[in-house]
Order: sequence, then structure tokens, then C-alpha cells
Amino acid sequence: MATDTANAPRPMGGPWGFKIAGVGAALPEKILTNEDLTAWMDTTDEWIRERTGIEERRIGGSTSGLSTEAAQLALADAGVEASDIDQVILATTSPDHICPGTAPAVARELGILAGAFDLQAACSGWVYGLVMANGLLLQGMDRILVIGAESLDRITDYHDRGTGILFGNGAGAAVVERAEPGHGELLSWDLGSNGNYVHILYADHGGVLQMDGKEVFRQAVTVMQRSATASMDKAGLTADDIDLVIPHQANVRIVESAWKKLGFSMDKTAMVLARTGNTSAASIPLALDDARRAGRISDGDIVMFLGFGAGMTWASAIVRWAE
Ligand code: COA
Repeated sequence: MATDTANAPRPMGGPWGFKIAGVGAALPEKILTNEDLTAWMDTTDEWIRERTGIEERRIGGSTSGLSTEAAQLALADAGVEASDIDQVILATTSPDHICPGTAPAVARELGILAGAFDLQAACSGWVYGLVMANGLLLQGMDRILVIGAESLDRITDYHDRGTGILFGNGAGAAVVERAEPGHGELLSWDLGSNGNYVHILYADHGGVLQMDGKEVFRQAVTVMQRSATASMDKAGLTADDIDLVIPHQANVRIVESAWKKLGFSMDKTAMVLARTGNTSAASIPLALDDARRAGRISDGDIVMFLGFGAGMTWASAIVRWAE
């Protein structure tokens, strides 16, 4: 626990800064390439690359194991100890068990004796977690671990041409902490859902992902455009003000289509999709980790996180980055 008063609410509306102090990522070792899939599926590497932008994905590992690995790297990156964490939020669609949540086991592995819960908002989950973390900072906490992790190979049929080409495993984690007021900041956010589209992407208990790919594509482009616009409007920003967009990595054509109306460029977009496939809740923190390591984010930069997923859910958040 960072302070004895971590649970004492602060007055709302105070100028509490928001900083992503450390990030980490983990991918399982086993690579499943497009070429591998052609051994048992009527598809080609060329088709998958052209229609999705994906070249390979990772399989194996577990949601708790990948979470723990990514979180350890995030804690080290932030220079903090397990005892400094006030809360663990684990966004996942593929928990180790239906019950209990995976977050308590991850907290145990990390040596964190704080609250820990899973958050299920599909591929939007990590951005939902980021916004929840900001709320917890306002409630008096100092430092929150927000993880997005998946072992989607457990709910993916790699013989299905519609879904088997897309999904993979991975985890990304971020340590979110209070910053000096006026330094790092969560400038705006937008969370939404439309349960009328539950049926276009789902997995039943014991089943695998079922998807109406074309409808998901259409909805994804629409909600990304809407949510990004809502967050920019709330923050009084335009596309030109955004230094880097980190979108959910589902299909590069979805991103390119959404960007047309939004006026974003691929140059200012963080992508890891080609080598990860769609890792649902892990995809945005995986791309964040990659962008950060590549030196693409500097102090004061305006960074937008933009996700969508089954539900349908969507989420965007704009952060003034603080080093
Ligand atoms: N390999 C080769 N050919 C394939 C194929 C595959 N894996 N899947 C479909 N095809 C063929 C179809 O049979 C069809 O052939 P036809 O024209 O002779 O009938 C053609 O390619 C087009 O199929 P279609 O299903 O219309 O493909 P698509 O362009 O919609 O692409 C997806 C399919 C799944 C790649 C695409 O719909 C998609 O990415 N949707 C969004 C999914 C998503 O992002 N989900 C996660 C959300 S978080």
C-alpha cells in the first residue's frame, strides 16, 4: 500500500495528475505464422496479409502467466515495488477460470496484497481499465496496475477461416500513478457500448469465438470514428494535436478506414498487429510498449488510446504523457 490513507477519498475535481509511469509486455514463445495455417486451412499468406495486415500471432502460455510477466516488466520500468501498488485491474476476455477472476492469482504471483479484479469489456478492456484507474486516483489511491492479457488460443478455432487467422495471445501492463498537477493528465475519455450487437462476436461457455466479420468490420470503423471524435471534442483537440494514436490491433484495414474520416495518419499510429495478430485486451498496451521502446513517445506528447470490441464496446482516452 503506497500510503495508509489510500482509501480516504479526496475531494472530487482536484487537480490530480495522471501518469503512465511504466509499461511492460509479454508474448508467448510459440509463433503461428500465416504459412503454418495453410497446412490445415484453405488460405494463403498473401490473402491474410492483404485482408488483415497480420503475418503471425503467438500461441501458448496462460493469461495469468503472461500478465505476471508483463506486470513485472512494468513495475521495473516504473521503478516501483509490488508493495507500492494499491489496486490491480486485469482486462481480459480469456481468464484462466470462469471463477475466480485471474487478477488475484496475478497479484499473488507479484506479491501484491491489494484489491485485484478482472474487467471484461473485450478488446476495449484495457482502455476501460485506464479510465477506472483515473477514478481510483481521484478516490485516493496512488498507484494502480492496469493489465490487458489474453490467451485467446483457448477460445479460437484455428481451423476456422474467419477467426483462426486473426487471434493470438499476449499481455501488456501499465503502472498508472498520480502525477504533479498540470504535468501528466487524462485529458478526456469516452466509454460506450451497444448491446444490440452482442451476437456479431461472442463465445459461449466451453465454446470458441463466433464472428460476423463483415458486420464487426462495419461497426468497428463507425464506433472508432465516433469515440475518437467524442474524446477530441471533450478535450478541445483536433487530429493535428494528437502526437500518437494507439488503436486496438484487429485489422489494419479497419484502422485505415476509420482514419480517413478522422484525419489521422498511419505515421502517427502505433501498430504491432503484423506480428501479434488480434490480442484483444492486450493489443493496445502491447502497441504502447512497442512505441515507447521505439522512442516514439516523449514528455508532453498527446497520446490517444482507441479501442473497440465484442459487446460492442468501445473506449477512447487522451493522455498528456509525462516522463
Ligand atoms: N483465406 C482465404 N480466403 C478467405 C478467407 C481466408 N482466411 N476467409 C474468407 N475467404 C474468402 C471467402 O470465401 C470469400 O471468397 P469469395 O469471394 O470467392 O466468396 C472472400 O475471401 C471474401 O470473404 P469475406 O468473408 O467477405 O472476407 P472479408 O473481406 O470480410 O474478410 C475478415 C474477412 C474476417 C478478415 C474481415 O471480415 C475482418 O477482419 N472483420 C473484422 C474482424 C475483427 O476485427 N474482429 C475482431 C474485433 S475485436
